[in-house]
Amino acid sequence: MKPKILLTGKNGQVGEELERLLPEVGEVVALGRQELDLSNPDGIRRTIRAVRPNLIVNAAAYTAVDQAEKEETAASEINSAAPAIMAEEAKKVGASLVHYSTDYVFDGLKGNPYVEDDPTGPISVYGTTKLVGEQAIRASGVPHLIFRTSWVYATRGRNFLLTILRLATQREELRIVRDQIGAPTGSREIADATTKILCQLYRREGGLSDVSGTYHMTATGVTNWHEFATAILEEASHAPKTVPWFAAATGGKPLITRRILPITTQEFPTPARRPAYSVLSNARLMKTFGIQLPGWRTQLHRAFSG
Ligand SMILES: NC(=O)c1ccc[n+]([C@@H]2O[C@H](COP(=O)([O-])OP(=O)(O)OC[C@H]3O[C@@H](n4cnc5c(N)ncnc54)[C@H](OP(=O)(O)O)[C@@H]3O)[C@@H](O)[C@H]2O)c1
Repeated sequence: MKPKILLTGKNGQVGEELERLLPEVGEVVALGRQELDLSNPDGIRRTIRAVRPNLIVNAAAYTAVDQAEKEETAASEINSAAPAIMAEEAKKVGASLVHYSTDYVFDGLKGNPYVEDDPTGPISVYGTTKLVGEQAIRASGVPHLIFRTSWVYATRGRNFLLTILRLATQREELRIVRDQIGAPTGSREIADATTKILCQLYRREGGLSDVSGTYHMTATGVTNWHEFATAILEEASHAPKTVPWFAAATGGKPLITRRILPITTQEFPTPARRPAYSVLSNARLMKTFGIQLPGWRTQLHRAFSG
């Protein structure tokens, strides 16, 4: 059966890639904030009842981690309440739900890769609101896939990759945190893995009922922000300057950064606390679906290839 899919957040990093790829799985109704504002519970209900999808893929979220510290209500509406309503309505119309969550549901103290069943302990408002969203979906009993990912970037939007490239046109020296460890994951790879999994599931009877649960979905390998920034500028130095997104990110200006100094989190205080170590084990994803995302360095290289 080819499912009818309701995609939310179509203009986000992951949402944009999903809008491009999900037609491989089924018929897609893709909505952005303009068409469906997730802070409006009635709007969510009305839309789901009108579209009557077989599958909802929720790529929308409140992702401004620092801003969330002072906008707890907004973050909670979008990350906690909206997924709860989606799950409830999905169940009523007989749909399944795919949702994304974050490594920031963990406190970062474990020291080796987190598995899905490890105790959570968010240390930020963003992480807390995302965890409440996960819990609501699980409690609803709707067939679901929750994919926890990390350090998401794309060649458009707001992310670390584009920030580093912009700063590299402005500053000879960058100071970047080295004591936060994780796995930068490209939005393209997240959408690609999601699409492959859904293709597998809808090719057979049963959809996603018998694999319902939470899965970690991040790049293979481990790095820190300082090493990631260094790799970005290394890739940038070899990248063809004609790649459109690269030209847009730098405004066509030369990169003038000569040094990237490692600093500590203490030296770079931010409104939201972030886990010191948030590497996620992807073993369950591999075991269940036979899917593994490429290494973080490979993904970065691919991004620069256009
Ligand atoms: N970004 C990360 O580093 C990261 C890390 C781990 C997990 N994740 C998770 O991965 C998923 C995808 O994130 P992403 O990186 O693609 O995020 P993103 O680029 O910030 O996209 C989120 C999208 O949600 C939309 N949105 C925000 N508020 C909305 C509202 N009230 N109504 C409707 N839409 C709204 C935004 O709309 P506008 O375009 O109008 O702003 C945006 O298009 C999210 O669940 C996120 O929590 C992200």
